[in-house]
Amino acid sequence: MAEFKVTPWEVEGKIDYDKLVKQFGVSLIDESILKKFKKITGEVHFMLRRKIFFAHRDLDFILNEYEKGNKFYLYTGRGPSENLHLGHLLPLTFTKYLQEKFKVKCYIQLTDDEKFLFKRNLTIEQANKIAYENALDIIALGFNKKLTKIIVDTDYAKTLYKQAIRVAKHITFSTAKAVFGFENSSNIGQIFYTSMQAVPAFLESVFQGKNVPCLIPHGIDQDPHFRIARDVLPKLGYLKPASIQSKLLPGLLEGGKMSASIPNSAIFTTDTPKEIEKKIKNAFSGGRETIEAHRKYGGNPDIDIPFQYLKYFFEPDDKKLKKIEEDYRSGKLLTGELKQIVIEKITKFILEHQEKREKAKDVIEEFILRD
Ligand code: TRP
Repeated sequence: MAEFKVTPWEVEGKIDYDKLVKQFGVSLIDESILKKFKKITGEVHFMLRRKIFFAHRDLDFILNEYEKGNKFYLYTGRGPSENLHLGHLLPLTFTKYLQEKFKVKCYIQLTDDEKFLFKRNLTIEQANKIAYENALDIIALGFNKKLTKIIVDTDYAKTLYKQAIRVAKHITFSTAKAVFGFENSSNIGQIFYTSMQAVPAFLESVFQGKNVPCLIPHGIDQDPHFRIARDVLPKLGYLKPASIQSKLLPGLLEGGKMSASIPNSAIFTTDTPKEIEKKIKNAFSGGRETIEAHRKYGGNPDIDIPFQYLKYFFEPDDKKLKKIEEDYRSGKLLTGELKQIVIEKITKFILEHQEKREKAKDVIEEFILRD
């Protein structure tokens, strides 16, 4: 079995999700949870059906409370070091869907402080500027203006810091070391940072003066932060935040996740149709070397990256996806043809996204929390 490593700042190797679930101690999303979703919202989102969002902590509690009339709020976030790519849009798109279905509030944290502390060549001014660029993409996804608040850490520091130090007081250096692998040479801002990421998980309870359940949709790599938050928040009198974890969108190249630091592995929201076409054409394929061999033996959609993008994001219709999958496996559908389908879908999505992103400039201030 190939080795892999998943931390909030580093993902290496081919991830074995079953192993990761055990390592992290999260629960798999099972039939009873899917049934609950169906009962409450009348449907099961394709990312749940396909186990893209596949694991959770206390999601059953969140849904049970909701059924009793006790609404939760959503919290998710993004570390602004680069433009957004499709991998980042995955949890954000799903969060927006949850907001729409459950009609609940949502906080989105943009951690310019984190990226400044963890990236060698990023100034705080740059990270802050990128946060506002990323906010445009997030708004473009269609979050509800009345129910959504975006937090840029250094611009909401007065409120956040007061709460973060309450969290920090309950985290020892040895815990931070054990959970994140810090060393004596790690800067002390990094060691403190997890307290900042914990704050939006109880901020609504602070504002309302009573406990409000919190659900955090996120890529599974962020779970270590929330393990700590779940340990500390009850000590401050708050509920443990619940969470729902997604798999990480594979990168365009063989192995590894989509990563902004490897530009050829990622499709960015700012890419042009030409760039998208080129990147998909170069993407790792499960097709055969020659057309003859492909027709004879068929392709392998399980390892084919363009096919994965249909599955994770761009073909919500199970029947259509299945047909593409079967045609590819049988050799009826060629690699070039599959890639063409994916290029068209992604290009259409990105062009529409870019228009919405322009419009977001008019309303961005209404989303940003300031103190
Ligand atoms: N640390 C996250 C990142 O680097 C950003 C983040 C902050 C976040 N709060 C979150 C992500 C809550 C998911 C959920 O991307």
